[in-house]
Amino acid sequence: MSATNIIHSIPSDPLTGAISVPVYQTSTFIQDAPGVNKGFDYARSNNPTRKVLEDIVANLEGGHGAFAFGTGLAAIDAVVKLLSAGDEIIAVDDIYGGAYRLFTRVYQKLGIQVTYVDTTDAENIARAISSKTKLIWIESPTNPTLKISDIKAISAIAKSVDALLVVDNTFASPIAQQPLSLGADLVIHSGTKYIGGHSDLVAGLVVTKTESLSEKIKFIQNASGGILGPWDCFLTIRGIETLDIRYRKQCQNAEKVAQFLLQHGAVDQVFFPGLETHKNHAIAKQQQNGLFGGIISFTLKDDTVAAANAFVTSTQYFKLAESLGGVKSLLCHPPQMTHASVPREVRLKAGIKDSLIRLSCGIEEAEDLVRDLDRAFSEATKNKNTVLA
Ligand SMILES: Cc1ncc(COP(=O)(O)O)c(C=O)c1O
Repeated sequence: MSATNIIHSIPSDPLTGAISVPVYQTSTFIQDAPGVNKGFDYARSNNPTRKVLEDIVANLEGGHGAFAFGTGLAAIDAVVKLLSAGDEIIAVDDIYGGAYRLFTRVYQKLGIQVTYVDTTDAENIARAISSKTKLIWIESPTNPTLKISDIKAISAIAKSVDALLVVDNTFASPIAQQPLSLGADLVIHSGTKYIGGHSDLVAGLVVTKTESLSEKIKFIQNASGGILGPWDCFLTIRGIETLDIRYRKQCQNAEKVAQFLLQHGAVDQVFFPGLETHKNHAIAKQQQNGLFGGIISFTLKDDTVAAANAFVTSTQYFKLAESLGGVKSLLCHPPQMTHASVPREVRLKAGIKDSLIRLSCGIEEAEDLVRDLDRAFSEATKNKNTVLA
Protein backbone atom coordinates (compact mmCIF):
# COMPACT_ATOMS: atom_id res chain seq x y z
CA MET A 1 0.00 0.00 0.00
CA SER A 2 1.39 3.42 -0.91
CA ALA A 3 2.15 6.14 1.63
CA THR A 4 -0.66 8.17 0.04
CA ASN A 5 -3.15 5.36 0.58
CA ILE A 6 -2.04 4.90 4.18
CA ILE A 7 -2.34 8.58 5.03
CA HIS A 8 -5.72 8.92 3.35
CA SER A 9 -7.07 5.74 4.95
CA ILE A 10 -7.04 7.80 8.16
CA PRO A 11 -10.39 9.57 8.22
CA SER A 12 -11.13 13.13 9.29
CA ASP A 13 -14.05 13.58 11.66
CA PRO A 14 -17.36 13.66 9.75
CA LEU A 15 -19.13 15.47 12.61
CA THR A 16 -16.81 18.47 12.97
CA GLY A 17 -14.31 18.31 10.11
CA ALA A 18 -11.44 17.84 12.59
CA ILE A 19 -8.51 16.67 10.47
CA SER A 20 -7.21 14.38 13.20
CA VAL A 21 -9.16 11.53 14.77
CA PRO A 22 -11.04 12.61 17.94
CA VAL A 23 -10.32 10.86 21.23
CA TYR A 24 -13.60 9.51 22.61
CA GLN A 25 -12.70 9.42 26.29
CA THR A 26 -15.88 7.82 27.57
CA SER A 27 -16.83 4.63 29.34
CA THR A 28 -20.38 4.39 28.06
CA PHE A 29 -22.80 5.70 25.40
CA ILE A 30 -26.35 6.99 25.89
CA GLN A 31 -28.99 4.76 24.35
CA ASP A 32 -32.34 5.89 22.85
CA ALA A 33 -33.97 2.73 24.19
CA PRO A 34 -32.47 -0.51 25.53
CA GLY A 35 -30.29 -1.87 22.72
CA VAL A 36 -31.05 1.12 20.46
CA ASN A 37 -27.83 3.13 20.09
CA LYS A 38 -25.50 4.74 17.58
CA GLY A 39 -23.39 1.60 17.20
CA PHE A 40 -21.61 1.91 20.55
CA ASP A 41 -22.86 0.83 23.95
CA TYR A 42 -19.91 0.26 26.32
CA ALA A 43 -16.24 1.15 25.82
CA ARG A 44 -14.87 -2.36 26.44
CA SER A 45 -17.05 -3.64 23.60
CA ASN A 46 -16.31 -0.78 21.27
CA ASN A 47 -15.08 2.79 21.12
CA PRO A 48 -15.12 5.12 18.11
CA THR A 49 -11.40 6.00 18.37
CA ARG A 50 -10.48 2.32 18.64
CA LYS A 51 -12.80 1.49 15.74
CA VAL A 52 -10.93 3.95 13.50
CA LEU A 53 -7.57 2.43 14.50
CA GLU A 54 -8.86 -1.10 13.92
CA ASP A 55 -10.20 -0.22 10.47
CA ILE A 56 -6.92 1.45 9.49
CA VAL A 57 -4.88 -1.59 10.59
CA ALA A 58 -7.20 -4.06 8.83
CA ASN A 59 -6.65 -2.01 5.69
CA LEU A 60 -2.87 -1.86 6.21
CA GLU A 61 -2.61 -5.64 6.44
CA GLY A 62 -5.31 -6.41 3.85
CA GLY A 63 -7.36 -8.21 6.50
CA HIS A 64 -11.06 -8.71 7.14
CA GLY A 65 -10.81 -7.15 10.58
CA ALA A 66 -8.35 -5.87 13.17
CA PHE A 67 -8.61 -5.70 16.95
CA ALA A 68 -6.61 -3.46 19.27
CA PHE A 69 -5.29 -4.71 22.61
CA GLY A 70 -3.47 -3.16 25.56
CA THR A 71 -0.12 -4.76 24.59
CA GLY A 72 1.33 -7.08 21.98
CA LEU A 73 1.25 -9.88 24.52
CA ALA A 74 -2.47 -9.31 25.11
CA ALA A 75 -2.93 -9.69 21.34
CA ILE A 76 -0.94 -12.96 21.41
CA ASP A 77 -3.00 -14.11 24.39
CA ALA A 78 -6.24 -13.44 22.52
CA VAL A 79 -5.13 -15.66 19.64
CA VAL A 80 -4.09 -18.54 21.93
CA LYS A 81 -7.59 -18.37 23.43
CA LEU A 82 -8.93 -19.69 20.13
CA LEU A 83 -7.58 -23.07 21.31
CA SER A 84 -8.91 -25.66 23.75
CA ALA A 85 -7.15 -27.91 26.26
CA GLY A 86 -5.41 -30.75 24.39
CA ASP A 87 -4.59 -28.64 21.32
CA GLU A 88 -0.99 -28.14 20.23
CA ILE A 89 1.00 -25.25 18.80
CA ILE A 90 4.12 -25.51 16.65
CA ALA A 91 6.17 -22.36 17.16
CA VAL A 92 9.38 -20.87 15.82
CA ASP A 93 12.26 -21.73 18.14
CA ASP A 94 13.60 -18.25 18.84
CA ILE A 95 10.18 -16.77 19.48
CA TYR A 96 9.93 -13.50 21.43
CA GLY A 97 10.73 -14.29 25.09
CA GLY A 98 7.42 -12.97 26.40
CA ALA A 99 5.48 -15.25 24.05
CA TYR A 100 7.63 -18.18 25.22
CA ARG A 101 6.83 -17.30 28.84
CA LEU A 102 3.09 -17.01 28.11
CA PHE A 103 3.03 -20.36 26.30
CA THR A 104 5.08 -22.29 28.86
CA ARG A 105 4.09 -20.69 32.15
CA VAL A 106 0.40 -19.95 31.52
CA TYR A 107 -0.98 -22.08 28.71
CA GLN A 108 0.98 -25.30 29.24
CA LYS A 109 -0.69 -25.80 32.63
CA LEU A 110 -4.07 -25.24 30.96
CA GLY A 111 -3.35 -28.17 28.65
CA ILE A 112 -1.92 -26.50 25.53
CA GLN A 113 1.41 -27.96 24.40
CA VAL A 114 3.94 -26.09 22.31
CA THR A 115 6.65 -27.67 20.15
CA TYR A 116 9.47 -25.36 19.09
CA VAL A 117 11.15 -25.97 15.75
CA ASP A 118 13.50 -24.15 13.41
CA THR A 119 10.89 -22.83 10.98
CA THR A 120 13.52 -21.47 8.56
CA ASP A 121 13.15 -24.88 6.97
CA ALA A 122 9.42 -25.47 6.41
CA GLU A 123 9.99 -29.23 6.37
CA ASN A 124 10.77 -29.10 10.12
CA ILE A 125 7.18 -27.98 10.67
CA ALA A 126 5.76 -30.75 8.52
CA ARG A 127 7.75 -33.27 10.57
CA ALA A 128 6.52 -31.88 13.92
CA ILE A 129 2.82 -31.86 13.07
CA SER A 130 0.50 -34.15 15.01
CA SER A 131 -3.24 -34.73 14.86
CA LYS A 132 -3.55 -32.18 17.68
CA THR A 133 -1.72 -29.32 15.93
CA LYS A 134 -4.14 -26.41 15.64
CA LEU A 135 -1.85 -23.41 15.37
CA ILE A 136 1.47 -22.75 13.65
CA TRP A 137 3.14 -19.68 15.11
CA ILE A 138 5.95 -17.90 13.34
CA GLU A 139 7.73 -14.59 13.52
CA SER A 140 9.51 -13.52 10.36
CA PRO A 141 11.97 -11.95 10.91
CA THR A 142 12.39 -13.36 14.40
CA ASN A 143 13.33 -11.56 17.55
CA PRO A 144 16.32 -11.42 18.09
CA THR A 145 18.24 -13.50 15.50
CA LEU A 146 16.33 -12.26 12.45
CA LYS A 147 15.49 -15.71 11.12
CA ILE A 148 13.29 -15.71 8.03
CA SER A 149 10.60 -18.30 7.38
CA ASP A 150 8.85 -18.92 4.08
CA ILE A 151 5.29 -17.82 4.85
CA LYS A 152 3.81 -19.20 1.60
CA ALA A 153 5.38 -22.64 2.06
CA ILE A 154 4.35 -22.83 5.73
CA SER A 155 0.82 -21.72 4.93
CA ALA A 156 0.50 -24.63 2.48
CA ILE A 157 1.53 -27.04 5.27
CA ALA A 158 -0.90 -25.41 7.73
CA LYS A 159 -3.77 -25.66 5.25
CA SER A 160 -3.04 -29.32 4.54
CA VAL A 161 -3.72 -30.20 8.20
CA ASP A 162 -6.41 -27.57 8.85
CA ALA A 163 -4.24 -25.62 11.29
CA LEU A 164 -4.21 -21.83 11.47
CA LEU A 165 -1.04 -19.96 10.56
CA VAL A 166 -0.27 -16.98 12.80
CA VAL A 167 2.48 -14.55 11.80
CA ASP A 168 3.92 -12.09 14.27
CA ASN A 169 4.64 -9.29 11.79
CA THR A 170 6.10 -6.87 14.35
CA PHE A 171 9.60 -6.75 12.83
CA ALA A 172 8.62 -6.53 9.15
CA SER A 173 5.71 -4.14 9.71
CA PRO A 174 2.92 -3.94 7.13
CA ILE A 175 5.19 -1.73 5.04
CA ALA A 176 7.53 -4.61 4.21
CA GLN A 177 5.29 -7.64 4.52
CA GLN A 178 1.60 -8.54 4.39
CA PRO A 179 1.41 -12.12 5.66
CA LEU A 180 -2.33 -12.53 4.93
CA SER A 181 -1.62 -12.12 1.22
CA LEU A 182 1.01 -14.89 1.57
CA GLY A 183 -1.50 -17.33 3.10
CA ALA A 184 -1.48 -16.56 6.84
CA ASP A 185 -4.79 -16.65 8.74
CA LEU A 186 -3.92 -14.23 11.52
CA VAL A 187 -1.34 -11.50 11.97
CA ILE A 188 -0.31 -10.06 15.26
CA HIS A 189 1.70 -6.94 16.04
CA SER A 190 3.29 -5.43 19.04
CA GLY A 191 1.96 -1.97 18.14
CA THR A 192 4.46 -0.73 20.70
CA LYS A 193 7.16 -1.07 18.03
CA TYR A 194 7.11 0.19 14.42
CA ILE A 195 3.39 0.88 14.21
CA GLY A 196 3.36 3.23 17.22
CA GLY A 197 6.89 4.19 16.30
CA HIS A 198 7.75 6.79 18.96
CA SER A 199 8.42 4.69 22.09
CA ASP A 200 5.53 6.43 23.83
CA LEU A 201 2.92 3.68 24.17
CA VAL A 202 2.33 -0.06 24.46
CA ALA A 203 -0.26 -1.65 22.19
CA GLY A 204 -1.15 -4.90 20.44
CA LEU A 205 -3.06 -5.76 17.29
CA VAL A 206 -4.63 -8.90 15.87
CA VAL A 207 -5.58 -8.90 12.19
CA THR A 208 -7.83 -11.60 10.76
CA LYS A 209 -8.24 -12.98 7.29
CA THR A 210 -11.87 -14.07 7.49
CA GLU A 211 -15.19 -12.96 8.92
CA SER A 212 -15.38 -16.09 11.03
CA LEU A 213 -11.99 -15.36 12.67
CA SER A 214 -13.03 -11.73 13.17
CA GLU A 215 -16.13 -12.87 15.05
CA LYS A 216 -14.07 -15.16 17.28
CA ILE A 217 -11.36 -12.58 18.09
CA LYS A 218 -13.98 -9.87 18.67
CA PHE A 219 -15.73 -12.18 21.11
CA ILE A 220 -12.46 -12.89 22.97
CA GLN A 221 -11.53 -9.19 22.98
CA ASN A 222 -14.81 -8.30 24.65
CA ALA A 223 -14.98 -11.39 26.89
CA SER A 224 -11.40 -11.05 28.23
CA GLY A 225 -11.38 -7.26 28.05
CA GLY A 226 -7.72 -6.48 27.29
CA ILE A 227 -8.54 -3.55 25.00
CA LEU A 228 -6.43 -0.54 24.05
CA GLY A 229 -7.65 2.74 25.59
CA PRO A 230 -8.73 5.68 23.40
CA TRP A 231 -5.66 7.87 24.01
CA ASP A 232 -3.32 5.10 23.04
CA CYS A 233 -5.50 4.37 19.99
CA PHE A 234 -5.10 8.02 19.02
CA LEU A 235 -1.32 7.89 19.48
CA THR A 236 -1.12 4.68 17.47
CA ILE A 237 -3.10 6.28 14.63
CA ARG A 238 -0.75 9.27 14.73
CA GLY A 239 2.19 6.87 14.54
CA ILE A 240 0.72 5.17 11.47
CA GLU A 241 0.64 8.53 9.64
CA THR A 242 4.46 8.38 9.38
CA LEU A 243 4.96 4.60 9.40
CA ASP A 244 5.98 4.36 5.75
CA ILE A 245 8.61 7.11 5.81
CA ARG A 246 9.99 6.03 9.21
CA TYR A 247 10.27 2.37 8.29
CA ARG A 248 12.04 3.04 4.99
CA LYS A 249 14.60 5.31 6.67
CA GLN A 250 15.18 2.73 9.41
CA CYS A 251 15.78 0.06 6.76
CA GLN A 252 18.33 2.29 4.99
CA ASN A 253 20.12 2.96 8.27
CA ALA A 254 20.21 -0.73 9.13
CA GLU A 255 21.80 -1.62 5.77
CA LYS A 256 24.67 0.80 6.48
CA VAL A 257 25.07 -0.31 10.10
CA ALA A 258 25.15 -3.98 9.02
CA GLN A 259 27.93 -3.25 6.51
CA PHE A 260 29.93 -1.49 9.22
CA LEU A 261 29.53 -4.39 11.67
CA LEU A 262 30.52 -6.95 9.03
CA GLN A 263 33.97 -5.44 8.64
CA HIS A 264 34.64 -4.78 12.35
CA GLY A 265 37.34 -6.95 13.88
CA ALA A 266 35.55 -7.49 17.23
CA VAL A 267 32.34 -8.78 15.61
CA ASP A 268 31.81 -12.47 15.09
CA GLN A 269 28.41 -12.98 13.42
CA VAL A 270 26.02 -10.39 12.00
CA PHE A 271 22.34 -11.32 11.74
CA PHE A 272 20.51 -9.20 9.16
CA PRO A 273 18.18 -10.52 6.43
CA GLY A 274 19.56 -7.94 3.99
CA LEU A 275 22.92 -9.72 3.82
CA GLU A 276 23.35 -12.08 0.90
CA THR A 277 24.99 -14.53 3.27
CA HIS A 278 21.81 -14.71 5.39
CA LYS A 279 20.31 -18.21 5.14
CA ASN A 280 16.96 -17.07 3.75
CA HIS A 281 17.98 -13.77 2.14
CA ALA A 282 16.24 -14.64 -1.13
CA ILE A 283 12.94 -15.42 0.65
CA ALA A 284 13.20 -12.23 2.71
CA LYS A 285 13.83 -10.19 -0.43
CA GLN A 286 10.72 -11.59 -2.05
CA GLN A 287 8.24 -11.65 0.83
CA GLN A 288 9.41 -8.34 2.34
CA ASN A 289 9.30 -6.26 -0.85
CA GLY A 290 13.07 -5.72 -0.74
CA LEU A 291 12.88 -4.07 2.71
CA PHE A 292 14.88 -5.86 5.38
CA GLY A 293 13.86 -3.95 8.49
CA GLY A 294 15.69 -1.77 10.96
CA ILE A 295 16.88 -4.47 13.37
CA ILE A 296 20.30 -6.09 13.35
CA SER A 297 21.84 -8.37 15.90
CA PHE A 298 25.44 -9.44 16.24
CA THR A 299 27.76 -11.47 18.43
CA LEU A 300 31.25 -10.64 19.62
CA LYS A 301 34.41 -12.67 19.14
CA ASP A 302 34.70 -12.36 22.91
CA ASP A 303 31.43 -14.25 23.40
CA THR A 304 30.80 -13.27 27.01
CA VAL A 305 28.14 -11.38 28.93
CA ALA A 306 30.93 -9.13 30.30
CA ALA A 307 32.02 -8.06 26.80
CA ALA A 308 28.41 -7.45 25.76
CA ASN A 309 27.87 -5.36 28.92
CA ALA A 310 30.95 -3.29 28.16
CA PHE A 311 29.65 -2.55 24.66
CA VAL A 312 25.99 -1.83 25.45
CA THR A 313 27.00 0.67 28.13
CA SER A 314 29.34 2.56 25.78
CA THR A 315 27.05 3.96 23.06
CA GLN A 316 25.71 7.49 22.97
CA TYR A 317 22.92 7.53 20.37
CA PHE A 318 21.88 3.89 20.71
CA LYS A 319 20.14 4.01 24.09
CA LEU A 320 20.18 0.88 26.23
CA ALA A 321 16.52 -0.10 26.58
CA GLU A 322 14.03 -2.88 25.96
CA SER A 323 11.83 -2.45 22.87
CA LEU A 324 12.56 -1.44 19.28
CA GLY A 325 11.09 0.26 16.24
CA GLY A 326 11.00 3.83 17.58
CA VAL A 327 12.47 6.95 16.00
CA LYS A 328 15.38 6.92 18.48
CA SER A 329 17.91 4.12 18.07
CA LEU A 330 17.96 1.55 20.85
CA LEU A 331 20.15 -1.39 21.73
CA CYS A 332 19.74 -4.25 24.14
CA HIS A 333 21.36 -7.44 25.35
CA PRO A 334 18.60 -10.06 24.84
CA PRO A 335 20.11 -12.74 27.14
CA GLN A 336 19.77 -10.37 30.11
CA MET A 337 16.81 -8.32 28.91
CA THR A 338 14.10 -9.28 26.38
CA HIS A 339 14.92 -13.00 26.49
CA ALA A 340 15.89 -13.35 30.16
CA SER A 341 12.83 -15.57 30.68
CA VAL A 342 14.19 -18.15 28.21
CA PRO A 343 16.48 -20.73 29.90
CA ARG A 344 20.15 -20.46 28.77
CA GLU A 345 20.24 -23.89 27.10
CA VAL A 346 17.04 -23.14 25.13
CA ARG A 347 18.45 -19.72 24.23
CA LEU A 348 21.76 -21.14 22.99
CA LYS A 349 19.97 -23.78 20.94
CA ALA A 350 18.06 -21.02 19.17
CA GLY A 351 21.34 -19.23 18.37
CA ILE A 352 21.09 -16.53 21.05
CA LYS A 353 24.68 -16.58 22.26
CA ASP A 354 25.87 -14.93 25.48
CA SER A 355 27.29 -11.89 23.66
CA LEU A 356 24.35 -11.34 21.30
CA ILE A 357 23.47 -7.66 21.03
CA ARG A 358 20.37 -6.35 19.26
CA LEU A 359 20.26 -2.95 17.58
CA SER A 360 17.12 -1.10 16.58
CA CYS A 361 18.03 1.63 14.12
CA GLY A 362 16.08 4.85 14.48
CA ILE A 363 15.74 7.67 11.98
CA GLU A 364 18.96 9.52 12.83
CA GLU A 365 21.63 9.94 10.15
CA ALA A 366 23.27 6.59 9.31
CA GLU A 367 26.76 8.13 9.54
CA ASP A 368 26.09 9.21 13.14
CA LEU A 369 24.88 5.74 14.08
CA VAL A 370 27.95 4.08 12.55
CA ARG A 371 30.24 6.58 14.31
CA ASP A 372 28.46 5.88 17.61
CA LEU A 373 29.06 2.13 17.30
CA ASP A 374 32.66 2.57 16.20
CA ARG A 375 33.34 4.81 19.20
CA ALA A 376 31.61 2.32 21.54
CA PHE A 377 33.95 -0.49 20.46
CA SER A 378 36.95 1.73 21.27
CA GLU A 379 35.45 3.03 24.53
CA ALA A 380 34.66 -0.51 25.74
CA THR A 381 38.23 -1.55 24.99
CA LYS A 382 39.82 1.51 26.56
CA ASN A 383 37.83 1.85 29.73
CA LYS A 384 35.95 -1.37 30.40
CA ASN A 385 38.53 -4.06 30.68
CA THR A 386 37.64 -5.88 27.48
CA VAL A 387 39.15 -6.20 24.01
CA LEU A 388 36.68 -5.02 21.37
CA ALA A 389 38.83 -2.85 19.11
C1 LIG B 1 8.17 -9.83 18.05
C2 LIG B 1 7.43 -9.38 19.25
N1 LIG B 1 6.16 -9.80 19.44
C3 LIG B 1 5.44 -9.44 20.52
C4 LIG B 1 5.97 -8.63 21.50
C5 LIG B 1 5.15 -8.26 22.71
O1 LIG B 1 4.69 -6.95 22.59
P1 LIG B 1 4.40 -6.00 23.84
O2 LIG B 1 5.71 -5.69 24.48
O3 LIG B 1 3.74 -4.82 23.20
O4 LIG B 1 3.50 -6.74 24.76
C6 LIG B 1 7.28 -8.16 21.34
C7 LIG B 1 7.88 -7.28 22.37
O5 LIG B 1 9.06 -6.99 22.35
C8 LIG B 1 8.02 -8.53 20.20
O6 LIG B 1 9.29 -8.13 20.00
